[in-house]
Amino acid sequence: MTIQRILRLGDPRLLQVAHPVHDFNTPELNTLISDMFDTMAAQDGAGLAAPQIGAPLRVVVFGFDVNPRYADKAAIPETILINPKITVLQNHKEDDWEGCLSVPGMRGLVSRYTAIRYTGFDVTGSPLAAEAEGFLARVIQHECDHLDGIIYTQRLTDPQKFGFTEELLNSGQIRKAECTE
Ligand code: NI
Repeated sequence: MTIQRILRLGDPRLLQVAHPVHDFNTPELNTLISDMFDTMAAQDGAGLAAPQIGAPLRVVVFGFDVNPRYADKAAIPETILINPKITVLQNHKEDDWEGCLSVPGMRGLVSRYTAIRYTGFDVTGSPLAAEAEGFLARVIQHECDHLDGIIYTQRLTDPQKFGFTEELLNSGQIRKAECTE
């Protein structure tokens, strides 16, 4: 079990496009994924992308059981998604406040598709496909953005709807537990 340091906004590695995984079920890949879950759990994250711990590979993990940061959200099964592709199911977006473990202590308003289908591979290289909506759809879009070097701060609906969580809470712009990662 290894909790890795999470790269923060400003580290150029967060802006790189990550490489597809070609070799599945290797010790290196298994270690990376186990570190990602450990690191995500240590920070009460809902998801994490490999580039956030300095691995330039197209791997994301998401899911949680009970999470103090998302007290009003239903549990999401722990999922490993490798070389993911997202298809939009409904051409409809919704604004909500997001956070990111690479941008600690801050939140911003971001517009995301409300219903998606995602495909990819599990750790053994078996294909997987599923549909997601609402909060989960948002988490998956946020994590997959990391694989293309995109941080949510590049997708703000309004540059003024961005700030420190504490100030947004104090001023009543957000309620508790409105965030993504
Ligand atoms: Ni993030």
